[in-house]
Amino acid sequence: METLKGLILSGGAGTRLRPITHTSAKQLVPVANKPVLFYGIEALVEAGVTEIGIVIAPETGDEIREAVGDGSALGAEVTYIPQAEPLGLAHAVLTAEDFLGQDPFVMYLGDNLLRDGITGLVEAFRRNEPDGLILLTQVLEPEHYGVAELDGERIVRLVEKPKDPPSDLALVGVYMFTPAVFEAARSIEPSARGELEITDTIQELIDTGHAVEQHRVKGWWKDTGQLADMLEANRLVLEDIEPHVDGELIDSNVTGRVVVEEGATLERCTVRGPAVIGAHSRLVDSYVGPYTAIAAGCEVIGSEVEHSILLAGASVSNLPSRMEASLLGRNVRISRADGLPKTLRMLVGDRSEITLA
Ligand code: TTP
Repeated sequence: METLKGLILSGGAGTRLRPITHTSAKQLVPVANKPVLFYGIEALVEAGVTEIGIVIAPETGDEIREAVGDGSALGAEVTYIPQAEPLGLAHAVLTAEDFLGQDPFVMYLGDNLLRDGITGLVEAFRRNEPDGLILLTQVLEPEHYGVAELDGERIVRLVEKPKDPPSDLALVGVYMFTPAVFEAARSIEPSARGELEITDTIQELIDTGHAVEQHRVKGWWKDTGQLADMLEANRLVLEDIEPHVDGELIDSNVTGRVVVEEGATLERCTVRGPAVIGAHSRLVDSYVGPYTAIAAGCEVIGSEVEHSILLAGASVSNLPSRMEASLLGRNVRISRADGLPKTLRMLVGDRSEITLA
């Protein structure tokens, strides 16, 4: 068989994760202190797919190039594929046609995370060499996903966000194709939301008599496109981390799965894992609760933080109550001022969300 290539979609608009995506790529938001995108690259490399094209958008492409470089640090050989506008997943595939050529490929959505990687999927593809292979998983609310209707093991139909779902099997953001996909993508029309949909493309493959098979995901799967899912992905990844303390603990108490990276200092703190404290962060008189990931160079002073993600350089000090289920962007500062009057003073960017209780 020809070389199996990888195609990671890391463009898109990221509207559901604003305001983070106003200034930064959602695929670079860290989960347990590692960019989401890196998990995808690692999953491909682990499955033996090292020749990887990454689709990037004009707004966030440079940042992704800077973070991933030539991919060699992750064992990959990366080619960047600029997509001028986010016109849909199938449009991204067509944009990558020159890179993909006549080789079969794995397409991986850059904001998706799969606990058990994609090795099983790649093996299934190599066994039968169908023109399409989709990955399915059972979900609780199928109306929010692309859903597959099956007849036994055979795929009959794929529907995007159905009001009346034909099954509870959702399409996971990893697919495998042969070059037959290009013709199918070229023969469909944009959907009501103006995008060339990958579900329509796969349906077209089925309707034109191509073999499209399905494979089930075993471990958990998360699409991190919105806040709740991002926090949930962080929780799931932290559950599996190997604890180690490289930073300095001064009169501090650390229990459970906790990583304290190099140069971090904790003074009079309690950390209850799973949690990760990034390099050179400074925590004083604080409590860090389960499912918290604090990136490098953060400060947490006199505060309680739980089930949250702090991006690099974020700082919280003297919060009047525990912060939870929060995502703080880079260099965000939240503090309490002493003295009266007791007011709220804020400098908040576009589309930020603050909930006070
Ligand atoms: P989505 O999350 O479906 O789309 P989006 O990134 O535009 O986000 P939102 O719906 O919140 O506005 O995209 C899945 C992945 O595919 C994600 O990593 C972005 C990427 N993508 C592209 O690379 N090109 C595209 O044209 C689209 C639509 C998505």
